[in-house]
Amino acid sequence: MYQVNPQNNDKTLANELLTQETKETIESWLAKYPSDQRRSAVIGSLHAAQEQNGGWLSKEIMQAVAQYLEIPAIWVYEAASFYSMFFTKACGKHKVSICTNISCMLNGAEKIVDHAEKSLGIKLGETTEDGQITLVKEEECIAACVGAPAILVDEHYHENVTPEELDKIFKKLGGEK
Ligand code: FES
Repeated sequence: MYQVNPQNNDKTLANELLTQETKETIESWLAKYPSDQRRSAVIGSLHAAQEQNGGWLSKEIMQAVAQYLEIPAIWVYEAASFYSMFFTKACGKHKVSICTNISCMLNGAEKIVDHAEKSLGIKLGETTEDGQITLVKEEECIAACVGAPAILVDEHYHENVTPEELDKIFKKLGGEK
């Protein structure tokens, strides 16, 4: 059973950095779990903090989440660095993740990666100059194999993606060159 860390009662960063909306979202997650299992709200809290922070998690905002949850900061860093939906470095407003795992690879993922890199003028792991789009470095199976090749644009799935469809997506996101 997870224990609340009695050492972590400094709420300075949490009070300074987290917006009221983020705090309310964290509270709504905390309400779903027993009071001695505040760690369970980490994932939901990180989603809220990432959204508040322009799509990525700075060290400070992760510390703020840890303070608010009254848990060790390492528990927050562990979750943020483990899950691919969290970004611990500054990145673009929109994140495009192209699955290159087996089903997608067999259905043309390499062509999609090539097309994305050429269209945006960046490589995987880079962000367009205008800060609109980051091509996420690597994405393993995103559980949409039946619609391979599949990509994730922010939190939305696109399946059976073609270069033409990719262009439309980029145009909509405002990062087309
Ligand atoms: S291999 Fe791409 S979604 Fe599963």
